[in-house]
Amino acid sequence: MILSSLSLINFKNYQEINFDLSDKINFFLGLNGAGKTNILDSIHYLSFSKSYFNHIDSFNIRKGDSFFSISAEFKKHTIHYKTYLAYERSKGKVIRVNDEICQKFSEHIGKFPIVISTPLDSNLILGSGEMRRKFLDVLISQFDKIYLNNLINYKRLIKQRNILLKQFSKKNYFSKEDLDIYNEKIIKTGSYVFEKRKGIIGLLRERVLFYYKLISSSQEHIDIEYKSQLHNNAFSSLLSKNIEKDRVLCYTSSGVHRDDVDFLINNTSLKKSGSQGQQKSFILALKFAEFELLKNMINFKPIFLIDDLFDKLDKKRVLNIMSLIANNDFGQIFITDTDLERINAILKERNLEYKCFFIEKNNIHEKRITD
Ligand SMILES: Nc1ncnc2c1ncn2[C@@H]1O[C@H](COP(=O)(O)OP(=O)(O)OP(=O)(O)O)[C@@H](O)[C@H]1O
Ligand SMILES: [Mg+2]
Repeated sequence: MILSSLSLINFKNYQEINFDLSDKINFFLGLNGAGKTNILDSIHYLSFSKSYFNHIDSFNIRKGDSFFSISAEFKKHTIHYKTYLAYERSKGKVIRVNDEICQKFSEHIGKFPIVISTPLDSNLILGSGEMRRKFLDVLISQFDKIYLNNLINYKRLIKQRNILLKQFSKKNYFSKEDLDIYNEKIIKTGSYVFEKRKGIIGLLRERVLFYYKLISSSQEHIDIEYKSQLHNNAFSSLLSKNIEKDRVLCYTSSGVHRDDVDFLINNTSLKKSGSQGQQKSFILALKFAEFELLKNMINFKPIFLIDDLFDKLDKKRVLNIMSLIANNDFGQIFITDTDLERINAILKERNLEYKCFFIEKNNIHEKRITD
């Protein structure tokens, strides 16, 4: 899939910009705070109907304005999709693809698949299990609508079950039959989520190991392990075993909402023992693996957005990554960086198809840098 053109009005720091993109690599260069990440975020908006960074739409309107819009043209196989997303304070959000208005935003997900990597991804290593579950959920939801529906239903059912547990406690009353109504559906939807996550982590693990080796020149060994209570227990027995605990906590203590993924380096926790460069290398390996997996599932290449690609990496790892990108066809890639010299050096050594965009004073212009 290719994003051929992008046009932003009142989106974050941009009043009005339009530009055409390269089908291959697009570099965005500018100083800190110039607006590089904001460009990637506008593409995230088109894919997920929301910002990667701030889920409150109004925060993304340029200060002092009342609306923003993002227009783009995507090309998938030979079909063109004119896509328009706008948010207006008084009217809310609208998404239109080829003049067809999207009625439900969750149904829009998967139309324009992307893989995004930003410095916030360090939360995947440093943050809570929720971050790692979200990573898996976002990846699987882009190619499996049934997963997304099961996940949405599962979360709703757990919420309802927790409300029921609270009511029991408040009214000093208990009905196993009432709880069983939820349990049955929770087991069905949760088991689907578990099986899918298990399958995807198996595939992902192998590819992350592969990419990590390439990026690090095999300097250290990494691993990924899926942690779930459902590995060794039937969901139904977990729910019945923990019923007294759940009644005390007024909370459902077992299920896939408690899943986690362990990231390891040389057999110890990546969070505790990995250096910043090793953690960054791991995240990138994870993202390259995500890209490959998603591509195989949907049978076309998603758009690859990599924010601050080279930050924290040593020269050798930067070269390894550029060779990886140059020697493989990752389709259309968007890369941001602050360092023109670094990009210049990389481009001089390779014959890459690219466009380079410079961002300053809330404006963007394209310029060749190696001519
Ligand atoms: N709603 C908004 N209205 C106006 N400006 C905004 C809005 N939201 C964000 N900005 C501006 O966008 C700029 C940040 O843009 P962005 O994060 O894309 O920078 P960047 O080029 O990626 O910087 P860095 O190199 O530090 O990552 C800030 O100057 C911020 O004030
Ligand atoms: Mg940035």
